[in-house]
Amino acid sequence: MNPAKGFFGHPSGLSTLFFTEMWERFSYYGMRAILILFMTTPAAADGLGLNVEESAAIYGLYTAAVYLLTLPGGWLADNVLGQQKAIWCGGLCILLGHALLAIPAGKEVFFAGLACVAAGTGLLKPNISTLVGDLYPEGGARRDAGFYLFYMGINIGSFLGQIAVSFAAEKVNWHLGFGLAAVGMLLGLIQFRLRANTLGDAGVKPKARFTGTPSSTTSTKTLLVFLILVVVLVALLHITGVIDISTARGIAEAVGAVIVSVTLLYFLYILVAGGLTREERKRVLVIFALFIGAALFWAGYEQHGSSFNLFARDYADRIVLGYELPAGSLQSLSPMFVVILAPLFASLWIRLAALNLNPSMPVKFGLGLITLALGFVVMYFAALVVTSGQKPNITWLIFSYFLHAAGEMAVSPVGLSSVTKLSPPRYVGQMMGIWFVGAALGNLLAGLFAGGFDPHNPSEVPGLFLTVITFTGTAGILFILLNPILKKWMGSVQ
Ligand code: PHE
Repeated sequence: MNPAKGFFGHPSGLSTLFFTEMWERFSYYGMRAILILFMTTPAAADGLGLNVEESAAIYGLYTAAVYLLTLPGGWLADNVLGQQKAIWCGGLCILLGHALLAIPAGKEVFFAGLACVAAGTGLLKPNISTLVGDLYPEGGARRDAGFYLFYMGINIGSFLGQIAVSFAAEKVNWHLGFGLAAVGMLLGLIQFRLRANTLGDAGVKPKARFTGTPSSTTSTKTLLVFLILVVVLVALLHITGVIDISTARGIAEAVGAVIVSVTLLYFLYILVAGGLTREERKRVLVIFALFIGAALFWAGYEQHGSSFNLFARDYADRIVLGYELPAGSLQSLSPMFVVILAPLFASLWIRLAALNLNPSMPVKFGLGLITLALGFVVMYFAALVVTSGQKPNITWLIFSYFLHAAGEMAVSPVGLSSVTKLSPPRYVGQMMGIWFVGAALGNLLAGLFAGGFDPHNPSEVPGLFLTVITFTGTAGILFILLNPILKKWMGSVQ
């Protein structure tokens, strides 16, 4: 690597990955900012004309699928494609997806577009992070700093995408918005291709990291047994009437039930038959607690694109200096606050550590969940303004987004690094997968929660936010109360 061509003192390959991920997130979050708005807009106004419950369930299913598909995406790169090719193919698939969405050709083309974006993101997202790690074979603080810069790229892309796409879509035409998301991904791909030489041979060959060698028949057998179990479970739930898979909401509930039961079985299997030492078993239990915390955190946070977005469109006074802001653009506030807050939080943890006051990981998680709940408390009061017959100012949303970004800082980077440290080394790939499954479950729950949002019945909105406050706030308090036990289970891991 030529240091003269570096990127803020980092390998120049990092700038290639930084801009690829920045453009990918531009397209992902840009499109997500208008997704539910487009689905719930009447067909007469060029929307899809679906009701809120169906749209929110589809939103939850789509965003959950994006993160669930990172599991096969990581496997494919490790066993067949290698990371570089996986990123390239994933990016092309995303581009195709957004291009399909840009065509005003009805529901079938729309759903095909969503499926392409989800599959492509599953292929691109986990592998680009793996490649970032590969640029620093020595690990340590330089690698952490590399990931930190990369996280900035994610949020800068998300910020710009949500502004650009929502302006184009809401002020001009929905499909122009989707088209702009496609252009973003195209720029990312061109940049990736032209600068691929900066990556050297990192991720050129598959490294079979997660699941052993491709010829391993045991993993194929396990996968088959697993798929049969899933089909039987869904069939049983459907026959007994617990779920109804004829509606989007029913399918979302079925997928939720499958994610929860499969994850429980996975943890049970690892704990009982994973050949763990006593020490490792306790750490895996901590990862299980983190999984639940992360799922609940994202269940609240990911409502930015659903219930917060509908709230902004249907109830908020979005006029600033005489100009009405597009509803979707308000979501750009959370990545903006993340970019501002990330350096402050990084130095806060370092300063507290110097004073020996750095909160333990469970306390940080608990505080993150409580801060998220506080963001919903703000929205609860904003919803009361609506029920009193007035239009709340966007300041409520700004304040809530600020609290959520602060919560994200205490949960997302902390959880990610804790999973890698707590996991028994031979299970680290799978445990990273579990972290993404937590995000998937959270996104799905966010869609199901938001399904209760009825634009014609504002009196139900405070109750909806109150439910989220109860779940996330209680989880946050539990993390803090259980801190002594969790800390003991973590052993020497900080
Ligand atoms: N903003 C983060 C990102 O887009 C959110 C996220 C966290 C997604 C954890 C997946 C897993 O990368």
